[in-house]
Amino acid sequence: MARKRVAVLISGRGSNMQALIDAARAPDYPAEIVLVLSNIAGAGGLARAATAGIPTAVVEHRKFADRATFETELTAQLRTARADLVCLAGFMRLLTPGFVEAWRDRLINIHPSLLPAFPGLDTHARALAAGVRLAGCTVHFVRAEMDNGPIIVQAAVPVLPDDDEDRLASRVLAAEHRAYPLALALVASGRVRVQGDKAVVGDHAAPDGLLINPADGR
Ligand code: GRF
Repeated sequence: MARKRVAVLISGRGSNMQALIDAARAPDYPAEIVLVLSNIAGAGGLARAATAGIPTAVVEHRKFADRATFETELTAQLRTARADLVCLAGFMRLLTPGFVEAWRDRLINIHPSLLPAFPGLDTHARALAAGVRLAGCTVHFVRAEMDNGPIIVQAAVPVLPDDDEDRLASRVLAAEHRAYPLALALVASGRVRVQGDKAVVGDHAAPDGLLINPADGR
C-alpha cells in the first residue's frame, strides 16, 4: 500500500513533529512526512525539519486579514504538497469549522491532557491545581470545537507529589512522543474507523502504556 503523505503543522519547537519524522524513517511505517508548515517564521521546528531533509513552508497568520484568507493559503500549500493527512503538532492557531470539515477524519491533533479533561492552554498548571493523580496525552481527530474529537490514542502518566509544571510537562511529553507516531500509523494504515463520536481501531494491539479503543470491544 502506498504510504500516506502527511503535512505537519507547527508553531514552536517541534518535538512531536520530530517524533513523527523519526518514526516515518522506518521503511514499514505507513506514512511519510512531505511538508512541515509553520505559522511562525522563526519556529525551532523548521530548522529541525530542514535538518531532516523535509520540505518546509511558512504561512504567517499575522500577514493575513482574517482566518479565512490565512486558511486559503494553508490549503494551497497542502494541495501543492499533495497531503493526504494533516497532523497538528503544537500548532497554536484555531482553525475554522470550514477548514476542519474539509479535512474531516484526515486532521489529527495532540493535546497534553487526558481529554476531555483540561482542554485549552495552561493544561499542566490546571491539572496540578485540580490535584489529579493521573495526567497524560490524547491524540484525536479534530472537530470544530477546540481540543475535541474522536480519540485515537491516549497515554496516562502519574502526577507525582513534588511535580511542578515543567516536571509534569516533560513526563507527559515523553508519552506524547510515543502516542503520536502510533496514532498516525493507525490512521495512515486505515485501521481507524470513526463510529459516531468514537474512533475504534481494528486489528491492532497497542504497545505497553498506549491505549486505543479496540473495534471488537475487548
Ligand atoms: C505539546 O505538548 C503538544 O501536546 C501541545 O503543544 C506542545 C507542542 O510541543 N499541543 P512540541 O512543539 O511538539 O515540542
